[in-house]
Amino acid sequence: MEDVIAVVMAAGKGTRMKTNKAKVLHKIYGKELVVRVVETAYKAGIKDIITVVGHKREEVEKVLGDSVTYAYQEELLGTGHTAMQAIPFLKGRKGKVVVLYGDVPIIRPETIKKIIAKSVLDKEYATVLTAIYDNPTGYGRIIRDASGNVKEIVEEKDANEEQKKIKEINAGVYCFDIEELILALEKLDNHNAQGEYYLTDVIKIMNEKGLKTGTIVVEDNTETLGVNDRMQLEMLTRILRIRINQKHMENGVTIEDTNNTYIYDDVEIGPDTVIHPNTTIKSGVVIGENCEIGPNAYIREGCKIADNVKIGSFVELKKAIIGEGTKVPHLSYMGDCEIGSHTNIGCGTITCNYDGFKKSKTIIGNNSFVGSNVNFIAPVTVGDNTLIAAGSTITDDVPKDSLSIARERQTNKEGWNKK
Ligand code: UD1
Ligand code: CA
Repeated sequence: MEDVIAVVMAAGKGTRMKTNKAKVLHKIYGKELVVRVVETAYKAGIKDIITVVGHKREEVEKVLGDSVTYAYQEELLGTGHTAMQAIPFLKGRKGKVVVLYGDVPIIRPETIKKIIAKSVLDKEYATVLTAIYDNPTGYGRIIRDASGNVKEIVEEKDANEEQKKIKEINAGVYCFDIEELILALEKLDNHNAQGEYYLTDVIKIMNEKGLKTGTIVVEDNTETLGVNDRMQLEMLTRILRIRINQKHMENGVTIEDTNNTYIYDDVEIGPDTVIHPNTTIKSGVVIGENCEIGPNAYIREGCKIADNVKIGSFVELKKAIIGEGTKVPHLSYMGDCEIGSHTNIGCGTITCNYDGFKKSKTIIGNNSFVGSNVNFIAPVTVGDNTLIAAGSTITDDVPKDSLSIARERQTNKEGWNKK
């Protein structure tokens, strides 16, 4: 198959978000909507991505950097007009172009692959992703001819009463033949209820020219949902949360409460690990088998947790490498650290990893016992088989097999309180 190009439409304003930011830069699980779309296109095998920016374009370009090529839409004159801005980058090229929205962020790469595959296999010049909605209000309707072929797409505002009853809607994702798309875009007009250039009119134009067009129905409607306000942003976050959590459960992870477990993208968790409620696990974290995590644990970026580890309540980990069988059971902040295997970190222990200028590392060996409420002033290294007394503030390295006590001795002034 020839290389496929993607056009991501990201020029819109997002008025209903009531935001000072570009709409597509709002985040779901720490990742901007448009970054999700671009990454999904990459995962679908598309390497060449044209992003049409407009409103707050500098902000969007700063986030996407040189991962994409930019086209610029000065005035928002409709989706057809958006696609027209990509023409200079498409001219002279052959093959397929996939059109995606920058604010429809949880579409799956498999769905994009399917629409491309269908368009190639069925030799279609336009393949439209559709969905069946119980309430299709607001969407473009798929109009079919007597033999069931897609004839055109009619927008809500242009639809007659009969057409409004149609429940099959245009999801807004398409795969086009590049050359025929350009020719069709050049024929678009804005003679419709909204006075906009509709990308959807390309279907009718191609059909009138005798070019084959088709549709593919999305299997999971949630993939077609967009973000237009904060409620939809929350809803998509919830859908993504459940989708990610289900994947981990299918892999053998126990999640006690999927509504209160926040696992970001690209996390690996081994089987028989149990995640208790109110746990957040950030992108890229790796957790082994048979671990126990939470409740109320916060596992941030860069953590690698081996098998049979316990991370208990109110524990925050950042860039922490935790060895097999080690326990951090309660109320700890362990950041920029490496902890060996079978070590116990007492309640309230923290790494003081930041001196106000730079971050430093704490290294703790195997088979060690750290008493409660210990502070490690990084950089510091603690050997294997050590015992750190409760309440110690460890500023110097601790050799292996040692007991280390770093606290003031207690003085009792007898009778003092009677005076
Ligand atoms: C569009 C489709 C409709 C479909 C729906 C699915 C058209 C004419 N209609 O409708 O059939 O059911 O999507 O969600 O295409 N954008 C720009 N520049 C513009 C206009 C839009 O970048 O000038 C971007 C928006 O930011 C948004 C996307 O394109 O990300 C869709 O635009 P929107 O106005 O929401 O399209 P709809 O009217 O909902
Ligand atoms: Ca916390």
